Amino acid sequence: MAPCPQASFFTAEKNGENGITVYQKSTGNPEFNKARDIWFKDRRYILPAGDARIHWDKENVIAVRVFDQSGAGGMYAKPFEISMVDLKYHIIFDFSNSAFIYSGDSIVSRKFTVRNVSGKELFKGKLEIRVRLCSDGLTILRESHDLDLQKAAQEEVSFSLPSDLSKPAIAEITFTDNASGQKISASLEIPYILTPKVPEEPRINGAKVFGVRPWSPFLFKVAATGVAPLKYTATGLPDGLKMDETNGVITGTLRKKGEYLVNLKVENSAGVSDGTLKIICGDRISLTPPMGWNSWNCWGLSVSDKKVRQTADAMKSTGLIDHGWTYINIDDGWEYTHDKEGMILTNSKFPNMKALCDYVHSLGLKIGIYSSPGPKTCGGYEGSYTFEEKDAKAYASWGIDYLKYDWCSYGNIAPKPTIEQMKTPYREMKRFIRNAGRDIHYSLCQYGMGNVWKWGAEVDGNSWRTTGDIEDTWESLSSIGFSQDVCSPFAEPGRWNDPDMLVVGMVGWGPELHYTNLTPNEQYLHITLWSMLAAPLLIGCDLSQLDPFTMNLLTNDEVLAVNQDPLGRQATRVKMATGYEIWMKPLEDGSIALGLFNKTLDPVYVPVDLKDLGLSGKHSMRDLWTQQDLGKVRDHFEMKVLPHGARMVSLR
Ligand code: GAL
Repeated sequence: MAPCPQASFFTAEKNGENGITVYQKSTGNPEFNKARDIWFKDRRYILPAGDARIHWDKENVIAVRVFDQSGAGGMYAKPFEISMVDLKYHIIFDFSNSAFIYSGDSIVSRKFTVRNVSGKELFKGKLEIRVRLCSDGLTILRESHDLDLQKAAQEEVSFSLPSDLSKPAIAEITFTDNASGQKISASLEIPYILTPKVPEEPRINGAKVFGVRPWSPFLFKVAATGVAPLKYTATGLPDGLKMDETNGVITGTLRKKGEYLVNLKVENSAGVSDGTLKIICGDRISLTPPMGWNSWNCWGLSVSDKKVRQTADAMKSTGLIDHGWTYINIDDGWEYTHDKEGMILTNSKFPNMKALCDYVHSLGLKIGIYSSPGPKTCGGYEGSYTFEEKDAKAYASWGIDYLKYDWCSYGNIAPKPTIEQMKTPYREMKRFIRNAGRDIHYSLCQYGMGNVWKWGAEVDGNSWRTTGDIEDTWESLSSIGFSQDVCSPFAEPGRWNDPDMLVVGMVGWGPELHYTNLTPNEQYLHITLWSMLAAPLLIGCDLSQLDPFTMNLLTNDEVLAVNQDPLGRQATRVKMATGYEIWMKPLEDGSIALGLFNKTLDPVYVPVDLKDLGLSGKHSMRDLWTQQDLGKVRDHFEMKVLPHGARMVSLR
């Protein structure tokens, strides 16, 4: 829940107010996003130098009143600043209404607006754009534009670069006012692609271990890349299962508990690739963290059957499915009401849920749904309270594979819940989900209350949210991501801590979308940290508008393999120093993955002492994002990490 800066005070007198009442998200008020946009605006107050409220040469106090709508609270904002009015108060660079645009495979261009917000002054001057590589400062683009900014007018500027930029670069943008010689500058990170191109030869990706319960419908797609057509074969498939050779989808039912090692082969005109899949038929499912998409961070309550189908199509056509992305999860906004028999009905945006599930399954994908144990969901739609059994049956009859079960409005039933009361609604639904006749990933969403990681497994959760809702800001990303150490010991195959969904690409909580506010480095850090945390990876963006940078973030098989590692251990923090953190994740083959994270706005050389990782002797190091060997290290090494960025390596 976002905090709401409401008013600011200067030297004990109110000098500004945004005048917007706080809208409760739980009422499903459609004005919610409108209010958010107003809260997140920069506020600037100008006082004449002679104003009596200014105490020259004395202490002046600024106070901001923040209304907290429960949840994380506080103020996620830029620091306060007081200064004399100068050029920067008149000329503003606005990067917010545009993203990097890719045209085909060759060019990435970026538009931005230079705005003269002064109603009195006009400015003529030069705008210089200079793009430099972060590695050696080499200038790769330099251009200048003459700007003639009339009162309260703006000009749009754009620049272009090659889209296959694989090295981090920064655009420095400077406006020099002809009359005064004053300058103002801003800088902008350029997206850079680290993930190597998908090779033509076949490559098997995705989970290497899959859990299923006896008698449950089996659906597993072998994820593989390579030039089409691919031919899939599996030897050692247990009785009851078969594989479609053209798409690698394994279906059927297993009757007996047991472990089966299946040899996989994928062939195409460029070669052959072998792999193994361990099928464990037993009690546990979701033996690796679920990977998929969820509608909330992009479509919010405007999700519809059409958008879900389009997403499923895009999951396939973009090739994401070939890297192990599996679930298509419908969040809040599909429900209507319970009928006289207690059957949950869908609203008009979802004309036929069974047909939708069949469609998603026909692509080799799985489908998820959302509900709340209270009478109402967080979006104000119909919840499952007192209808748990009927709802679970309905989900199973439609073919649902994943249930995200929220808390919203259950707070009215258990206002100040004890831990036992927190467990109650999840235990209740679990009884029916377990008997639904199909494997349904059970995802608890109660924001970490009562340290859910300590008891999520007891109520049979396959994953549980550990925090409030994520937003596409550094403050939200870093405060959630770096607070996950405490729950690390509780993660294991089938039981995952869930720090909430991904905020890369076009997001917006619906219907209007915007490009994520995270910088490219922050997005690398996001995917690195979530992979290290063995977190459920649920893409939160519009898959029909994926740009090459976002695709590069979501299709790095060596990075994803860390998330999907069969050992199922979550990374722990091995070092927290001023400005950086080091996290380590043990992997099944005895090697380790290491995440180095820079929390500052300057590049940092992160020192790593192997003894802090419990390692001695020589180790081979590999950069997982670029998929390149970095040679041998012993005792100590150092790595440059970009501002708010991450490096991810393996050591073996
Ligand atoms: C919140 C939940 C979000 C989303 C939303 C739907 O409680 O944390 O992820 O599901 O409800 O209304």
